[in-house]
Amino acid sequence: MKKTLIFTFGLLISVSCLAQIPAYKDKNLSVNLRVKDLLSRMTVEEKVGQLNQVNGGVLTGPTVANDPGAAGKMNLLRQGKVGSFLNVVGTEQTLAVQKEAINNTRLGIPLLFAFDVIHGYKTVFPIPLAEACSWDLAGAQNTAAIAAKEASSAGLHWTFAPMMDVSREPRWGRVMEGSGEDPYLQARFAEARVTGFQGDLSDNEHVMACVKHFAAYGAVEAGKEYNTVDLSRYALWNYYMPSYKAAVKAGAATVMNSFNILDGVPASGNGYLVNDVLKKKWGFDGFVVSDWASFGEMIAHGYSANETEAAKQAIMAGSDMDMESQVFNKTLVNTVNEGDVPLARLDEAVERILRMKFKLGLFDDPYKYHDAEREKRTLLAPEHIKVARDAASSSMVLLKNEILPLKKELKNILVLGHLSESQDDVLDFWKGQGDHKNTVTILEGIKAKYPNAKVSFVKTCTRDGEFIKGSEKEIKSLAKKADVIIATIGLYGDLAGEARALGNLNPPAGQMEMLAAAKATKTPMVVLVQAGRPLILTDVVKEYGTILYTWIGGSQHGNGVADILAGDVNPSAKTVMSFPASLGQVPVYYNHYNSGRPHSDGQEGPDHFWVSRYRDIPNEPLFPFGYGLSYSTFVYSDLKLSKTEINKNETVTVEVKVTNTSKIDGIEIVQLYIRDLVAQPIRPVKELKDFKRIMIKAGETAVVNFELPAVKLGFYDENGDDLLQKGAFKVFVGTNSKEVLSADLELK
Ligand code: NOJ
Repeated sequence: MKKTLIFTFGLLISVSCLAQIPAYKDKNLSVNLRVKDLLSRMTVEEKVGQLNQVNGGVLTGPTVANDPGAAGKMNLLRQGKVGSFLNVVGTEQTLAVQKEAINNTRLGIPLLFAFDVIHGYKTVFPIPLAEACSWDLAGAQNTAAIAAKEASSAGLHWTFAPMMDVSREPRWGRVMEGSGEDPYLQARFAEARVTGFQGDLSDNEHVMACVKHFAAYGAVEAGKEYNTVDLSRYALWNYYMPSYKAAVKAGAATVMNSFNILDGVPASGNGYLVNDVLKKKWGFDGFVVSDWASFGEMIAHGYSANETEAAKQAIMAGSDMDMESQVFNKTLVNTVNEGDVPLARLDEAVERILRMKFKLGLFDDPYKYHDAEREKRTLLAPEHIKVARDAASSSMVLLKNEILPLKKELKNILVLGHLSESQDDVLDFWKGQGDHKNTVTILEGIKAKYPNAKVSFVKTCTRDGEFIKGSEKEIKSLAKKADVIIATIGLYGDLAGEARALGNLNPPAGQMEMLAAAKATKTPMVVLVQAGRPLILTDVVKEYGTILYTWIGGSQHGNGVADILAGDVNPSAKTVMSFPASLGQVPVYYNHYNSGRPHSDGQEGPDHFWVSRYRDIPNEPLFPFGYGLSYSTFVYSDLKLSKTEINKNETVTVEVKVTNTSKIDGIEIVQLYIRDLVAQPIRPVKELKDFKRIMIKAGETAVVNFELPAVKLGFYDENGDDLLQKGAFKVFVGTNSKEVLSADLELK
């Protein structure tokens, strides 16, 4: 039968009639027409169903009250009440569930499969915080692209990454997921990772990215998970928003609400954040998903009286999809039918989601991501492992060095500490589908690197860091013959990630006993630190001469460590969070304001009493932002500006010479900061504005140029609008945020 479709929006389509398929299934029509056609066929129930995302696998959040179980969820799906699943992974499972959606629902709308692919799917790369320490944007784009390739080969369309929450809180377990404390660097990594994950989304080798957690989740008070955020709009715009904005501008398909409140309003129901900023001001055209149950949790926040109100507040604020709280599924049909939520708003949310399903090509080929053969050859492909190894070593920060690199001819090596050999503790909570058995431990890495050496191992500590009695004796006898001791301290892998806030950041006491026992033998020592956050290393730094911060390096952790120990890789990473000297300093960060009574460590005397300082601990962090050593040594000289005055349309060229004074080729991360000396409102004492990661050959001098346009001297007002104020600036260039050369610049 020949049918003519007349759309309510006044378009006459005849092409699809001839083919006798509904317009939304017609590849030749535009996505907009197909979306409109599909929408016109959907019931309110089916529309609400598209906004419902259901957990179909492991829990990455609390169980939901009255969870319907697997069978119940499949029933919901068949009734058209599920638009997306999270945590269903692998071609076999995703294919089976997708078939249900296509064959056994009225309209055959394909599902979206989402998963937290945070730093790799099966091949696990270093945690994002570590990777950011490489300052290697191309590298981060590449690891995201590989993660996407593996995840998409396993049936997934969507990752809940990158997390772009600026944070100054090492107590917060989730700092591991971000790129540290600096808005500029965080924004550059946001762009790199969004581009890597998504490509242009038209093939089947990429996944949608999700910018999270919108907004300012990294500012949770005292670093406690799910806690309050209370912050000025000025701080919000200048410290926290730039990375989300950059990710949206880079084309991120989705954004996730955060768990926190902002201005007393939960982010999920915060119209300022979602409607006003994200959708209107930034023109975001993807869709917004809640965080796990965060719509329903507006009741516990004391913002919503009940589920009906929570659902209404969420959707009216501009949030589109409900992950796991079920409040849309339970209440929205009635609310819409009663006219309490306008149908137009429901339609808009559904359209945003459908548009992405069309963009991914799922209506034309719903099974394009479910090819078991492709999955098999993609996961853990040798070229992915190679990238993981390079990524691991380029993210490890050399904090102090007296004896590295170690000679290749070592005959006898003593390795200490549970963390050196535990496969179980090399990966963190957000390890994707990474399997502990596919990881390389430090002990394995060292054995492989030194095949001719005798490598002995003493566990010395339990997983929790308790000292194992009697270990001293063993250490003493083995150390006698050892050329070097390599001892690992830190935290076990599962202590990094969501719901893993910590109130103590010292290495466990038993690990300190282990180090002391090793030191007593007088055998040269290397201390490795493995953790997903900066720990407080003041006591370690006092006592030990060589410290490598290895973070959580992923599948190739041990090989990455061994490459650095042996000097096959010259370390180049630099911290992206300040390392506190004491817990009492937290939050401690480089881009703070000066205060009216500033103080620097070392300044004493009567003028330094009534000042902003602690009486018992230093003001400065143990290691500043941007810090990290190399086996090479770099000397900075001749900082020059092409002009000392510029107007708002001009650019100044900043030139500096960096000499590698060592005998080893090395990569240096040259950092450019500014300070706006007088501004209303005030500006921080330093702000990163650019950086270059360059290889400088032994003995050579590189002339490094930065183009600094006047616009980079600007900032945001409390509404997120640009400000550029004339006046005096300092321009700094250096090897970290503290050791810099400086020059004056005037903006006319
Ligand atoms: C809660 C986390 O906050 C979020 O980052 C994650 O993507 C979801 N759970 C899904 O696992």
